Amino acid sequence: MTALVFTQTDRTRRIGDEERARILAEPGFGQHYTDFMAHATWRLDEGWGGAEVIPFGPLTMSPASAVLHYGQEIFEGLKAFRHADGSVWTFRPERNAERLQRSARRLALPELSVEDFLSSLRAAVAADEHWVPEATSEESLYLRPFMFASEEFLGVRASHKVEYYVISSPAGPYFPRGVQPLVVWITDEYARAGAGGTGAAKCGGNYASSLLGKDEAAQHGADEVLFLDSETHTSIDELSGMNVFAITTDGRLLTPALTGSILEGVTRESILQLARDRGLEPVEQRLVMSDLLEQVTSGEITEMFACGTAAVINPIGEFRAHGGTWTVADGGSGETTLALRQELTDIQYGRTPDRHGWLTRL
Ligand code: COI
Repeated sequence: MTALVFTQTDRTRRIGDEERARILAEPGFGQHYTDFMAHATWRLDEGWGGAEVIPFGPLTMSPASAVLHYGQEIFEGLKAFRHADGSVWTFRPERNAERLQRSARRLALPELSVEDFLSSLRAAVAADEHWVPEATSEESLYLRPFMFASEEFLGVRASHKVEYYVISSPAGPYFPRGVQPLVVWITDEYARAGAGGTGAAKCGGNYASSLLGKDEAAQHGADEVLFLDSETHTSIDELSGMNVFAITTDGRLLTPALTGSILEGVTRESILQLARDRGLEPVEQRLVMSDLLEQVTSGEITEMFACGTAAVINPIGEFRAHGGTWTVADGGSGETTLALRQELTDIQYGRTPDRHGWLTRL
C-alpha cells in the first residue's frame, strides 16, 4: 500500500481575516468551520486514493448513498493546540487513529493506516494553520475526521465506496456555561448500547441513540444524561459523549471497565495515567449506580467528573433520577478534578513537560 499524499491545488480562502478574527474571539463549540478540508476516497477494487485538500463546502452525493439508509459511518475527534512559540501540536493522535481502525472494523468500513490518518491531519492543519487559536487562550482547533459509505446502492451489505474527510472547527468550551459542575440525569428509559453492539465504536448511531436521553435530561433541568447498561439497568456505562469518573476518600479513582459497550476514550486513558502519577489508585470495574449514589450520600465519594476530547474534564455536581436528587460533596468543582484538568491542559498547551510523550507536532 502506498502512503496517501494529500495535495492542495485551490488555496482560495472562504472566510476573510476580519470574519475569522470575530469567530476566533468567541468560537463556541462546533459552530464554525475553517477554509479547507482533507478528503480521500476508498474503492473496493482500488483501495484508498484521491487524497486532496479542498475548500470546505457542501458535499454532492446520491440520495441512494448507503450511509443515508444504513448509517455506515464512523468518526473521531481530536484537537490541535498552539504553543507559546507558535508551533501547533496534537495529543495522542495515534490512539485516535487506532480507534478509527477499530471502529472501521466494527462498521465494516475500510481501515485507514495510522500514517495516512496522521498525514490527513497534517494536511488539514497546514492548510488552516491561521485557524488555530492563539496560545494565550484555552481554545483549540477541533479536528473531526469521519468516514462514510458513499456507494449508490440500496442492498444491505458493506459499501464498495467510502469517503473520508477531516473537517476543522475552532473550539472553545464544549458546555456553554464553561467548566461548571454538571447536573446529570440518570435515565431508566433508554440505553445507549447493548452487548455485542456498537457501543465501543465511535459511530454516528451511538450518538443518535443518545439523543432522546439527552432530551429527557433537559426536561429534568439536567445538562447531560447518564446511560446504564442495557441488560440489567444497574451499572454505569457513560454519558452521551463522555466517560465518567469518581474519586473516593481513600484515594481510588473509579471508572467503568471497558466492557465493549462504552467508548475507549483517549482522555479517559490519559486520566488513568495522570491519576496513577499523582498516587491515586485507578480502579476500572463494573460500577453499580445505586452503590455509587450511596457512596455519594455517605461522603465516601468526594468528587465525580465527566471527560472527553471535546469536554476535557468537567465536574459533576449533581445527579437526578426519578427516585431523587444526589449532590456530590458540596455540588461544586472538586479540587482533584480541577487539578487533573489543569495538568492535562498544561501538557496539551505545552506549559509543562510532556513526560509521557503524548504530543505530536503537526
Ligand atoms: C469528543 O469528545 O471529541 C466527542 O467526540 C464527543 C462529542 C462532541 C461527540
